[in-house]
Amino acid sequence: MNYATSLPWTLESLDFSRIDIQRVRQNEELFFLLCSASFVESGSDLYTHNLVDHFAGDQELQTWLSQHWEHEELQHGRALAGYVKAVWPEFDWERGFQAFWDEYGAMCTNEQLETSRGLELAARCVVETGTASLYRALNDITDEPVLKQLTHHIKSDEVRHFKHFYQHFRLYREREGFGRYKVFRAILRRVNEIKAEDGDIALRHVFNQCYPDQKDDDTAFRRVAERAHALLRRNIPAEMTVKMLLRPLDLPPRLQKAVEKPLAKIAEKLFLN
Ligand SMILES: [Fe+2]
Ligand SMILES: [Fe+2]
Repeated sequence: MNYATSLPWTLESLDFSRIDIQRVRQNEELFFLLCSASFVESGSDLYTHNLVDHFAGDQELQTWLSQHWEHEELQHGRALAGYVKAVWPEFDWERGFQAFWDEYGAMCTNEQLETSRGLELAARCVVETGTASLYRALNDITDEPVLKQLTHHIKSDEVRHFKHFYQHFRLYREREGFGRYKVFRAILRRVNEIKAEDGDIALRHVFNQCYPDQKDDDTAFRRVAERAHALLRRNIPAEMTVKMLLRPLDLPPRLQKAVEKPLAKIAEKLFLN
């Protein structure tokens, strides 16, 4: 089957030969963020298989996961990797990715998923919130036209993924009958997991590949990672992030309003260390 026809946008629609390289090449923080994102996205086929297994029997969701979601996420990985290679050709992307994958791939097991399917869907909403915020921030950060277009495409995909998982979450909530507190706990668990693992492992492998002589120098790595995080923190779309994170809790409107503002103030801490 030709999945390209069902993709909302294609790699071919991006013209990497038109990248205004001078606008991005000197921005090391941006390089770190783009490259680590390209690593995480490029491993999406493994998460898809884990999720597809988890939803055995739910053919509709399984079909969407394996025929749409997986291809879109993998396209994010390919497009970001293509961009990184075009702007920073001296970086050995394949080698960096392989090292990342050897460590990260081993960690992605079914045990990491929520046992309740409905709660796993709430946790998926958290993941898509994180990526939607990331690409919206990257879109705001850059004034390089091709990257602007690319991050816009990806951000729209992530928001659509969020909506899809959210719809299914609602179906399962009815079926499984869990309460708000359980959803809250599941959201918190996934936020903490993202903070502890995904981004940092990828960033570390980008760092190791860039500075092989400082491979075990944690202070040097922290310095670089902190600069990348700071750039992201300054640009995180706080309001959008908080609204999306709270959505599965389905709070009464007055309560939602009361917690939105204080949460928006700490939004940058939600996904970043
Ligand atoms: Fe993605
Ligand atoms: Fe996504």
